[in-house]
Amino acid sequence: MNPLRLDTAILSADGKELIILDQTLLPGKVKYLSLSRIDDIWEAIYSLRVRGAPAIGVAAAYGVYLTSAQLETQDMAAFCAHFRTQKDRLSSARPTAVNLSWALNRMEQVLEENKALLTVPQMKERLKAEAHAIREEDVAISRGIGQYGFQLLRPGDGILTHCNAGTLATAKYGTALAPVYIALEQGWSDLRVYCDETRPLLQGARLSAFEMHSAGVDTTLLCDNMASYAMARGLIDIIFVGCDRVSANGDFANKIGTSAVAILAKHYGIPFYVCAPSSTIDPSIPDGAHIPIEERPGSEVTEMWYEKRMAPEGIKVLNPAFDVTDHRLITGFITEKGVVTAPFFEGFQALGLC
Ligand code: MRU
Repeated sequence: MNPLRLDTAILSADGKELIILDQTLLPGKVKYLSLSRIDDIWEAIYSLRVRGAPAIGVAAAYGVYLTSAQLETQDMAAFCAHFRTQKDRLSSARPTAVNLSWALNRMEQVLEENKALLTVPQMKERLKAEAHAIREEDVAISRGIGQYGFQLLRPGDGILTHCNAGTLATAKYGTALAPVYIALEQGWSDLRVYCDETRPLLQGARLSAFEMHSAGVDTTLLCDNMASYAMARGLIDIIFVGCDRVSANGDFANKIGTSAVAILAKHYGIPFYVCAPSSTIDPSIPDGAHIPIEERPGSEVTEMWYEKRMAPEGIKVLNPAFDVTDHRLITGFITEKGVVTAPFFEGFQALGLC
């Protein structure tokens, strides 16, 4: 199966449903869900049926269009009020990936700019077009990141990645895995991709390993605590990770465990690159200490994936879904407009990324 054929979040042909690939069932089952109720779309984002920062943004854009368009009214004020209720509900689904609020704010901006100019039916069409544009732009942005990232690779390289920042996390291609898809297009067949398992939700094992293996890439799965071993053995030449929010100084949030990979990379002298679409750069946040970090239920650590609970009843569990990596550990950001090295804020500005 070609993973690039899997759509993470699209609008149905009749424009009435959001169709998402249920990523909680991968790699065992490829199943699509058709969603139209706000609670179901919220649940799909919260439960990581659709996940990965850019894909969450696309799903939210379609979600707010769909659920606001369900209101039968000709009154623009009533439509705007309904839109904002849907927007607020969706934006509460997950706090860390800025793409969620970025996409919803972009949809709201369309509403604000056109509410005095359009009728309600025209506004619904305009919002649908904006959601499609967000999705289409994400494909182009991911491809751009892939092309810049590809230029950093040498034949035979071993690439370590954490979590899943592949095609399943975006509209197409991914960010951290996009360079590998470009390499495949170029006929390269000797890259080696090492996927951190990524406890506790196993995005590395279930999603990145699935994607890379399905695409015909030499794929190796390792537990998160084996990364140092792999680096010490010389198996890793370069590290590509995604991101959920990049602050102005370059500190960034990504899946829990990413900062440990960056610290190890510094120790072993391995280049550590963050693949960042402009939609994930949040210059309103000065540094990583201000990034909101999602806490998830402890049962994801103690019970999920196990036949029976694997920890004593009654213990406390720490389950932050993301951590912040210090900008001083980063070799560079690979964006759709080029590679940015320190100082990062000035670099983002120079490329018009913020
Ligand atoms: O909790 P998830 O699976 O949504 O977390 C995803 C990540 O942390 C990805 O690395 C990040 O969103 C980048 S996706 C291109």
